[in-house]
Amino acid sequence: MGVLELKNVSLTLGGKRVLSDLTVDFWDGHIHALVGPNGAGKSTLANTIMGLPGYTDITGDILLDGERINDLTVDERARRGITLSWQEPARFEGLRVDRFVLAGAKDKSTETARHVLERVGLDPDRYLKRAVDRTLSGGERKRVELASILSMEPRIVLMDEPDSGIDVEALNRIFDALADFKDRGATVIMITHSQEVLKHAEHAFLMCCGSILDKGAVGRIDDYFGDHCMPCDHANQPDEDELKGDLA
Ligand SMILES: Nc1ncnc2c1ncn2[C@@H]1O[C@H](COP(=O)(O)OP(=O)(O)O)[C@@H](O)[C@H]1O
Ligand SMILES: [Mg+2]
Repeated sequence: MGVLELKNVSLTLGGKRVLSDLTVDFWDGHIHALVGPNGAGKSTLANTIMGLPGYTDITGDILLDGERINDLTVDERARRGITLSWQEPARFEGLRVDRFVLAGAKDKSTETARHVLERVGLDPDRYLKRAVDRTLSGGERKRVELASILSMEPRIVLMDEPDSGIDVEALNRIFDALADFKDRGATVIMITHSQEVLKHAEHAFLMCCGSILDKGAVGRIDDYFGDHCMPCDHANQPDEDELKGDLA
């Protein structure tokens, strides 16, 4: 049994079925990639797992350690160790870095703030008193956000497009931090449409048109993704007959 499971989850947004009878099982202690073309429903899936407002009206079940969490609020899910980092890390504009990284921390000491900044490669002496605003580069903001997630000691780390808007150096730091999460027993789910990011996973799920098409070794999923999803064969319009034919 996986630590996090979704069973037959469907979600309709604005009249469009965005998640379609999706069943997936993320088992413990691995770095998983959830890969799929733009519009496949990846961010929607992440938001649904987190229980963000607007993403709770689902059918099917979300299970954490076998327990149904559909009715838990975002805060309750966060307390149980589910975290999500967004594509755009701009949520708490202006907050000081030390306050930002300790916002959800289990241990709210300055030592914790220093420690998590060091782990993402930011010198605490230079960053602790700065503001989370436009004076930080995209890569710095992402790392500050990752530091805030580290301080939560999460069990499930959902990262939506970890490479968006950052340079290679920052991205490598993020991969180091993700490996660090894993070493601490967390389950990492990297959401991506980048083959470069996919390479850093240990296992991959392929998402298309709101459901999981395949799962397995990164190399095999990468080959399929490269051949069929870049560009996407389906424009991610659900057409199940065509999909079945294509995979047969
Ligand atoms: N609130 C919404 N209302 C209507 N359609 C939406 C909404 N959110 C997402 N969608 C649609 O759902 C599909 C999947 O979106 P998304 O989850 O953002 O895909 P991905 O992250 O894989 O690129 C897209 O076609 C998108 O336009
Ligand atoms: Mg997305």
